[in-house]
Order: sequence, then C-alpha cells, then structure tokens
Amino acid sequence: MKKNSITVTDNRNGQTYEIDVKDDSIRALDLRQIKVHSSDFGMMSYDPAFMNTAACASSITFIDGEKSILRYRGYPIEELAEKSTFLECAYLLIYGELPTADELEHWTNRIMRHTYIHENLVQIIESFRYDAHPMGILISSVAAMSTFHPEARQVHDPEVREKEIWRILGKLPTIAAFAYRVRIGRPHNYPDISRGYTGNFLYMLDYMNEHDYDVHPALSRALDVLFLLHADHEQNCSTATMRAVGSSKVDPYSAVAAAAAALFGPLHGGANEAVLRMLEEIGSVSAIPEYIERVKKGEIRLMGFGHRIYTSYDPRAKIIKKVAYDVFEVTGSNQLIDIALELERIALEDEYFISHKLYPNVDFYSGIILQAMRFPTDMFPVLFAIPRAAGWLAQWIEMLDDSQQKIARPRQIYTGHAQRPYLPIEQRMG
Ligand code: CMC
Repeated sequence: MKKNSITVTDNRNGQTYEIDVKDDSIRALDLRQIKVHSSDFGMMSYDPAFMNTAACASSITFIDGEKSILRYRGYPIEELAEKSTFLECAYLLIYGELPTADELEHWTNRIMRHTYIHENLVQIIESFRYDAHPMGILISSVAAMSTFHPEARQVHDPEVREKEIWRILGKLPTIAAFAYRVRIGRPHNYPDISRGYTGNFLYMLDYMNEHDYDVHPALSRALDVLFLLHADHEQNCSTATMRAVGSSKVDPYSAVAAAAAALFGPLHGGANEAVLRMLEEIGSVSAIPEYIERVKKGEIRLMGFGHRIYTSYDPRAKIIKKVAYDVFEVTGSNQLIDIALELERIALEDEYFISHKLYPNVDFYSGIILQAMRFPTDMFPVLFAIPRAAGWLAQWIEMLDDSQQKIARPRQIYTGHAQRPYLPIEQRMG
C-alpha cells in the first residue's frame, strides 16, 4: 500500500521512524524525534545557504529553473512583459489577481499621488557626500522613512499596510532621482504624476527646463519592461531578508531597507553593475578568450552568468536581450553589446560553462541597456531595488498573513570550545 511518508532507520541504534511527506517535503521539526538518548536534543537538518530548505509556502512566483519557466501568480513572464505594465504586475503580485480597469486606475492614482517626499527627507538626501553610492542613499532614506510614518508599525492593520505600500512604491523613484540629481549637483525635479511611473522617473532624472522636453516613449516602455522583469523572483537573498526581518514585526520601511541592503551585494542586485565593469575591463572582442581562460582557472567569475535556480537560460535574459535592441534604436548602438554577444557565444559553446550549467542571467543584458540609457553604473542596483520592492512587499504581506510563520530564527551546529576557565589578562600567552 502506498503511503505519503518515508521510513528512516537510525543506524546508530537500529530504530525506525515514519515521517510524513507533503508537497515532496518533510517537516524539519519531524526529525527532532530522532534521538539516541532520551535526553538528546534530537536531529536537525544542516543546510548552509538554504540549498534545499523551503522556509515558507508561497503562491506568488513560480520558477522551474530547468525548463526556464518564470510565472507571477500563474502568468508566464513572457506574456506579462508583452502585454502588461510594471504597475499592473505589482498589483498582481500583491493582490494575487490582475486588476480590472477601475482597480488599475485607482492603484496607479494612489501610487502616483504618493510620489512626493517630505522636505525633511529631501534634506537627508542632500546631506550625503557628493560621491555617496546611490544605493547607500536609497537604503538610508527608506530606513529614515519609518521615522516619518510611525503608524507603519501597525503591520497587522490592512488599511495601514496598503497605505505604506502606496507610499513605498510611490516614493522610491523620487528618492532615487533626487539622490542622482544631488550627486551631479543639479536641482531636483518634483514629480509630474501625469507622466506615468517610469515616464515620471525619467523626467525627474533628466529634465533641465527644456521647453520641448518629453520622455521618449520607447525608453519609458523599455524601463517599464525592465521593472516588470525584476519585480519578483521568489525566495532570493533580498526577499528572504525581507521575510526574516519582517517576521520580527518591524515596520515595512525598516524591512525594505534591510532587503535593499541585501540586494546591494555584487552576487545579487549589484551584478548588473559588475557585468558592465567586466565588459569595460575586457575592452575588446579579441580579449575575450584570455578572459574566459581566467574564469575557467577560477581566478574570476563571469558576471551575469550562473544562477542558483536556473540551470538553463534565464527566461528574463531572453526578453531583456530583445529590449536591448529596442533601446539601441533610440540611443544608437553600443560597443559593449558586441563584447557581450561574443562573450555569450563563446561561453555557451565552452565545456566549462556547459558542464557547470552556466547561462546568462537577467543582469547580463540589463546593465548594457541601462548604460545605453545613460544611467551611471552605480545607479544600476537602485534600478533593481525600485521594482523589486513590489515583490518584497507582496512576500511581506504573505508572510504576515501566514499562520505558520513566526519570527525567523535558524538553528546552528555549535563548533566552538566547550566551557573553559577564564584566564586573567596577565596569564594569557601571545
Ligand atoms: N563564472 C564562473 N564560474 C561560475 C559562475 C560564474 N559566474 N557561477 C558559478 N560558477 C561555478 C563555480 O565556480 C562552481 O564551480 P565548481 O563546482 O567547479 O567549484 C559552480 O559553478 C557552482 O557555483 P556556486 O557559487 O556554488 O553557485 P551558487 O548557486 O552558489 O551561485 C551565483 C549562484 C549567481 C551567485 C553565481 O552563479 C555567481 O556568482 N554568478 C555571478 C554573479 C551574478 O551574475 N549574479 C546575478 C544573479 S541573477 C540576479 C539575482 O537574482 O540576484
């Protein structure tokens, strides 16, 4: 008879245990019954970097890394990128359904009305040094926002939560644009909410009092697609951080600041910046083979390649490659794209990359697009953080409403000293 369980034999004492299986998983706590002596703590699972541990059940984003599948709430990313907008997808991620026309109008309106930031926050942004990394400014400004909206601590009040979501999604582009303008010594452009989410963002970054100023629709659409593709990616480093920090019931500004800090790292959201620096370092198509050899020797990593989840082509990379050509039609071609294309071609044919299942990820092309749109390289992770906030907030709500969740608190295997006598300083040997 088939049963949804596994039987485990402990070879230390021959005892067997039956452990339930649900969703192809066992509950880690069920292992605790496995003991040699009744006074033992019980068995734990050891899983550094969460290589095989599900920390939550989620209905937001589905990825099949072998089949190159990415879906938000069941909708394929390819279809969303073609037919939807970033704000529509943000709604989908947070509420679970695509909005009706009226719902989308209300949602867009609420977010765009929250694009203005408090003048005290403007002063905070202005107080950073001229060469401060914009991601540092963004992280600090979002954390500072918790002091402007103390009611945000009521994380179980749905109305408060909704308002904080509008505020965060509305204000992030403004913080990013103001941080950019401060660093280049230009006055701020206050939001123009009639221009739409990405149109307004590009306007705040670029506008210089020109009479005939307009944002190129192809560029604002390209940025919108980029935002849509980055909106969520299930339990990655920053999202896991959002959930872990949020599980302490801290306000969403503090949790988003923590998630953004996790995103800043070069192995995560900092990768698109690293890709561009790498392409610049390679410098020419002829220098690629030598660079690949250094990667294969383990001296360096090919940035924008590889993914913990995708063991085939990242579906977002395919879409982004197409967006790159739409952008180049407006901005003119970019010599780095030639290096990138050749690098990709050589790597995809190379035994090292084939055997390690290393394919281009979303960041391989996003950096080239952003550079063609004349974003400074250090703005790249900021342009990842803005849309990813939608995913962080969707995951945060799901975590708060999940009765199985508690404050995140992993176990450890202690490998240090047993208790030992304290030595006064004069008796310690150097
Ligand atoms: N270049 C060369 N070798 C690599 C690379 C790479 N980019 N990525 C992985 N490897 C090799 C690695 O050396 C190891 O080889 P071996 O087994 O022979 O020691 C093997 O592949 C497995 O690597 P890993 O570090 O154990 O894999 P991971 O799942 O821990 O790392 C990763 C995933 C994305 C951090 C990694 O592939 C990497 O560092 N890529 C470059 C940075 C990058 O592009 N990051 C953006 C990720 S996509 C955006 C996002 O979701 O944040």
